[in-house]
Amino acid sequence: MKLILTDDGSHSLYREDLKEGYHSHHGAVQESRHVFIKHGFTAWAENNPGREPAILELGLGTGLNALLTWEAALAHGNRVRYSGVEAHPVPEEIWSQLNYPQFTTNLPEAAHALAEIHRTPWDEGYFTLGSLFQLEKRKSKIEATTLTEGFFDLVYFDAFAPNKQGELWEPAVLEKMASLLRTGGFLTTYCAKGQFKRDLKAAGFTVETLPGAPGKAEMVRGVRQ
Ligand SMILES: C[S@@+](CC[C@H](N)C(=O)[O-])C[C@H]1O[C@@H](n2cnc3c(N)ncnc32)[C@H](O)[C@@H]1O
Repeated sequence: MKLILTDDGSHSLYREDLKEGYHSHHGAVQESRHVFIKHGFTAWAENNPGREPAILELGLGTGLNALLTWEAALAHGNRVRYSGVEAHPVPEEIWSQLNYPQFTTNLPEAAHALAEIHRTPWDEGYFTLGSLFQLEKRKSKIEATTLTEGFFDLVYFDAFAPNKQGELWEPAVLEKMASLLRTGGFLTTYCAKGQFKRDLKAAGFTVETLPGAPGKAEMVRGVRQ
């Protein structure tokens, strides 16, 4: 994986073997804020005032979504339990260069926060990183990860695109996501392909097609029935 710059000035990573980036080349931070914070975390928090969400991310990668969720938790004042599953952790020589801290506005000591996200041990349960942010990290493939059914309120579904890593968009994985979510829980993703939407519906979700992040026409939010 190598460090690249996207059009909003924020970093992303590029996997040479897959010929695929970790984020939209139009802007990593603006995509994350749109797909996972605005249409995921914030929409859920507005629907569930006073509740404290458990969030699952597939996969944790650069830690960008975790960092922006920590910032959003402080803005909303609700405590978050965040589970990040990742098959291929980003090494320190790469994550230490990521410029995401300079894109936060509401997270004191954001560089320290990003380092804490990456330094949290794998497979040892939840760690309290801040008054409103608890993190557990699982170093494994999502397909092989055992998580508590009906525990999660939000799934950030941030796998590589279906044409690069089709196995993660298969019905079996979507059914697993459905089993992990509570009724009314959200799954958000940048992908809005027709087959994916049909499979998401068949897995037990109501499917909403929403405007995509800048540079992309559409995104999807599934609501667990
Ligand atoms: C599109 S990138 C997004 C990463 C992250 N959300 C971010 O913002 O940096 C997809 C991530 O899924 C991870 N991944 C790939 N296959 C996986 C699997 N089977 N289980 C869990 N994570 C996986 C990759 O290593 C990569 O970090």
